[in-house]
Amino acid sequence: MTFQTIGVIGAGQMGNGIAQVFAASGFDVRLNDLSGEALEGAVARISKNLDRLVARGKATDDEKAAIMSRIGTTTDLGDLGESDLVIEAATEREDIKSRIFSDLQPSLQPHTILASNTSSISITRLGAGTDRPERFIGLHFMNPVPVMKLVELIRGINTSEETYRAMLGLIERIGKISASAEDYPAFIVNRVLIPMINEAVYALYEGVGNVASIDAAMKLGANHPMGPLELGDFIGLDTCLAIMNVLHDGMADTKYRPCPLLTKYVEAGWLGRKVGRGFYDYR
Ligand code: CAA
Repeated sequence: MTFQTIGVIGAGQMGNGIAQVFAASGFDVRLNDLSGEALEGAVARISKNLDRLVARGKATDDEKAAIMSRIGTTTDLGDLGESDLVIEAATEREDIKSRIFSDLQPSLQPHTILASNTSSISITRLGAGTDRPERFIGLHFMNPVPVMKLVELIRGINTSEETYRAMLGLIERIGKISASAEDYPAFIVNRVLIPMINEAVYALYEGVGNVASIDAAMKLGANHPMGPLELGDFIGLDTCLAIMNVLHDGMADTKYRPCPLLTKYVEAGWLGRKVGRGFYDYR
């Protein structure tokens, strides 16, 4: 299997990072979102990230220009038809993802591999709803995508060995490291990480510590680059809650119950850094 053109659906923080990483590795990228505004925002974000690399001497102006020239944008899913691989990085809702795959399907070539960047939804179920479950796989990038080394690779029950091997090679080509996970709720990273964040919210809820002491304890006591509450804000508290719910429902175990304080923050619209307010105030 050869890969030259990569389609990326969703121009949010994950999608624009994925687009940047593939373009920086020499692939042609077609980035899709519903609105031209979202796409312009993503291109501006990628340009800013690359400016930072240029300023630090890690890339030249010419390299930046070449990377930017490899990123095309479109609001029409049909324009992704030429892609050898399409990575969906849309909102973390199963109904939205399934609709995108069924809208996309008619324009795809037979060999195209479909991947989802879902952080917790069943790859087997998403793949089963498409015309190519054997060429459907989970490629879970970490945030911030250009910085984080890992891509979690998740095989659905129908994913073929050929698709899996092709993705192992591709992850290596973009300079990332893969960890293979079986298709169970929230896979590996979020199975471990999100309950830790939820537990930190419980510690706050029960008054074990305040926001500053909980984060300082984990940064300085466990050498985490961010405290768990700061990390929850960074990931998005709505995403954290959605993943806890997937674990709770999928494992049918009360140890995964979401903390009521996390639910309350999400209900209030305090979703973390992206809206300016979460456990911290970013306004
Ligand atoms: N986009 C691109 N590059 C970024 C960036 C961003 N959003 N944020 C930081 N960087 C780059 C900086 O340019 C800098 O690059 P150089 O080393 O080349 O100069 C480097 O990252 C370090 O940045 P800073 O010095 O500004 O800040 P830092 O040392 O505090 O690091 C961090 C920032 C990398 C985000 C670090 O705090 C960290 O690793 N945090 C934890 C991140 C994490 O756990 N991510 C996983 C979240 S879980 C997930 O993604 C899965 C899910 O499904 C929920």
